[in-house]
Amino acid sequence: MPIQTDYLVVGSGMAGLWFAYRMARHGKVIVLTKKDDSESNTNYAQGGIAAAVGPDDSPEIHMNDTIKAGYGLCKEDAVRVMTKEGPGLVRELDALDIDFSENSGRLDLGIEGGHTKHRVIHAADTTGQEIEWGLIKAVRSSENITLWEHHFAVDLLKGNDGNCCGIFSFNRESGEFTEIRSKVVMLATGGLCGIYEHTTNPPIATGDGVAMAWRTGAEVENLEFIQFHPTSFYGVKLDGRAFLISEAVRGEGALLRTPDGTRFMPNYHPDAEMAPRSDVARAIYNELRTNRLDYVLLDLEPIPDKHILKRFPMIAETCRKFGIDITRESIPVVPAAHYSVGGIKTNLWGQTSIKGLYAAGECAHTGVHGANRLASNSLLEALVFADRASRAASDEAYEDCSVEKTGPFESSFHSMEDPSLINSLCSSAKQTMWRYAGIVRSEKEMKKGRKRIAELRHELEALYPERNFSPGIKQLRNMLIVGDLILRSAIERKESRGLHYVEEYPDMLPEARHTVLKP
Ligand code: FAD
Ligand code: SIN
Repeated sequence: MPIQTDYLVVGSGMAGLWFAYRMARHGKVIVLTKKDDSESNTNYAQGGIAAAVGPDDSPEIHMNDTIKAGYGLCKEDAVRVMTKEGPGLVRELDALDIDFSENSGRLDLGIEGGHTKHRVIHAADTTGQEIEWGLIKAVRSSENITLWEHHFAVDLLKGNDGNCCGIFSFNRESGEFTEIRSKVVMLATGGLCGIYEHTTNPPIATGDGVAMAWRTGAEVENLEFIQFHPTSFYGVKLDGRAFLISEAVRGEGALLRTPDGTRFMPNYHPDAEMAPRSDVARAIYNELRTNRLDYVLLDLEPIPDKHILKRFPMIAETCRKFGIDITRESIPVVPAAHYSVGGIKTNLWGQTSIKGLYAAGECAHTGVHGANRLASNSLLEALVFADRASRAASDEAYEDCSVEKTGPFESSFHSMEDPSLINSLCSSAKQTMWRYAGIVRSEKEMKKGRKRIAELRHELEALYPERNFSPGIKQLRNMLIVGDLILRSAIERKESRGLHYVEEYPDMLPEARHTVLKP
């Protein structure tokens, strides 16, 4: 028997939890999450959340900075909404049990590349963890919200009239499937950079929401824009993710040098270390390639020791564990896949092209980031558009839910998933994405990458038929779908713009267009 709820949320990061928190005023909410409640990209955010709350700042200035960083591709109405509604919502967030850093009784505001004002609200260097804990506490104290941990959303449920009316999920602990029906499904499944070999994202970031929405018929947009963070700790992986060294470290004055001590960023951009992320990542890539280096160095010498330890205690402690005292030594760093700018196409209210299906946060594409996201704008985007989605979703009524597709019944579920086989296919997929859809791309190579992803899909299908709904297999299938969508979008863009650089097309075309893919 299906379970009924009013609102169903997939994902317990910033977007999913804020949406659930808001919807609890209107009805019963179930939040599904595929691991522990706090495991999400949100939980690892370091730098902070950008909002124009400073005395010398305004939403207009924040809007202009965002648009300038977006290389002509930002949707201005979305940026206006985000920068205008952001400050009020961040104040509401601050009023929850979240301990943002303060200076003389006021929010301490950091600065990162591309921002012309100090506007990055943070909790030292563990901002995401503070937000995550504060929101989980708020959500858990609501009688109307139930949080289901270790529940993997397998597929969306589509009614005969084309609307989305629920989801199939798999309980990883009990091994049971559940069909959940609801007025609204909110996909807040976060990022997809876990499909790259080197990434700052935790392994849950496999693009499940994008793949599910695509299978159900939703449009996706601008998936070619993958942001590579310039500075992840070279050679260090923590539970499968590269350890991030926040851009805020450069914001406080740290410099990038080659191992022989030469500072190189001034040769690449007038803003040097504070240039937009795409420029810094490409400059590092170039230094690594031309000088045959394994890493470059992040030199914290210009920052006073006391300030380093106060502002970046977690980074200092983690580096210390790996043998680096950041008050004395430089940190070896390399770029890593960090953020997906593109995603499921939504309007200004979080609505996708399918009735009843909403998306917010990193899995959605609202258009605020254009071709290059400004640091610390993604937590803000997740908050603002989850909030707007909650306002729109409260007006939704139950639709007919005569189900078009039957779900994963026992007979179609084969549990003989061979983990070593799945892991090996998964590693091949990640290596393919790193090699063929990386920081510097070539059309010829991207086509090879697409072919390789198609081969991996065939290998998987030959081993496990499509009606196998085992989560490990389903997740790998999602990764391969998303990998193909990224490469397909990247091949369609015959220019270099922001994060997308193609050797055959080094220039930006005069007209900016979005890459919309329809199933
Ligand atoms: P997430 O926080 O990633 O949450 C996704 C949720 O969906 C998770 O709970 C996951 O378990 C769940 N999920 C996924 N698939 C399924 C499924 N099939 N079934 C059930 N559940 C599922 N941005 C900033 O603005 N400022 C920063 O300082 C910053 N620092 C960052 C540092 C790091 C290391 C990383 C990785 C990212 C950082 N970002 C930062 C980006 C930002 O953290 C994310 O874009 C943002 O947190 C995304 O929030 P979200 O709610 O969309 O998704
Ligand atoms: C960082 O702290 O450098 C990450 C900020 C972001 O990705 O917005």
